[in-house]
Amino acid sequence: MPPATSRRWFDSAVRGSRAPMRLGNIIRRLEQQRRLDRIVDAARPLADRLSGSRWGDVLHGVQLGHPAHPLLVQVPIGAWTSAAALDMLPNTQRSAHRLVDLGIAASVPAVLAGLADSAHQHRHHQRVALVHAASNGTALLLYAASSVARWRGRHTLGRGLGLAGFTAVGMGGMLGAHISYALAGGASHAAHAVDRMPADWWEIGPLAELPEGQPVRRDAGPVPVVVVREGREVHALADSCGHMGGPLSEGAIANGCITCPWHGSRFRLRDGTVLNGPATAPQPVLRTRVDGSGTVAVARPDEAEVVERLPSAVTDALPHRARSPRGP
Ligand code: FES
Repeated sequence: MPPATSRRWFDSAVRGSRAPMRLGNIIRRLEQQRRLDRIVDAARPLADRLSGSRWGDVLHGVQLGHPAHPLLVQVPIGAWTSAAALDMLPNTQRSAHRLVDLGIAASVPAVLAGLADSAHQHRHHQRVALVHAASNGTALLLYAASSVARWRGRHTLGRGLGLAGFTAVGMGGMLGAHISYALAGGASHAAHAVDRMPADWWEIGPLAELPEGQPVRRDAGPVPVVVVREGREVHALADSCGHMGGPLSEGAIANGCITCPWHGSRFRLRDGTVLNGPATAPQPVLRTRVDGSGTVAVARPDEAEVVERLPSAVTDALPHRARSPRGP
């Protein structure tokens, strides 16, 4: 298309009612496809069962403090990428075949983790996730056929099927990235709240007005926080649940923990530690104080406090500055 025509087309698309045909807009159309809902609903009981099983927290990544699915997919993608590279070199059939098989085996935990995660996402996430799973399922079948062809000594066919599988897994990966980045399906919905919290003390009202052991919502500047009073001790956490943004101030309190009303993630009030998923990141906890007149104030957590709640393997790798004692 000549540049002037291309520019006219782009301008009319931007000015007109139709969105320009950018890649992101094409993928966004998937989010609206109600025709996918029947299949999404059919897969839902399995996803719920996986997430609710004793392995659910492991599949979500609670013990890691990080979503497990994006870590687990590295193994099959890495193996299949390496196999594709070896397929272009002479005398590497056996190594390429082993990598194809490694990718097939490693895709099983990755699939289970992705399925468990999808149980607690919104409908538009689940529609894209369904196409993401179909694309990756196609890749898995193609790689299985590639492995069989290689086993029978038909290496040219095996390479061709591997290349087709690599294309399918690339499409699936792109859709997975859309869920994570464009739809924030794997991002923390609380992390940004820390940056917007007031750095200085912000008064949120008298201690006497906070009900004992009940979550209430207050605003710390522009950021909603959930506040729980236990005697003269006051806990304050970001109200938006790190998992998908559920309102923690509508959650339940028990045994020093708060449970999110949306999908049941359980956070320790004292330090925000995740005790049950699907959330994986600790919930941001604010500093609190009660002054002599009984007024409660909150402030953004210190960088050092946030770092101290990370596993020691992570904090040891961080620069010393981040672990320095709290300032005035
Ligand atoms: S929004 Fe999902 S557990 Fe809170």
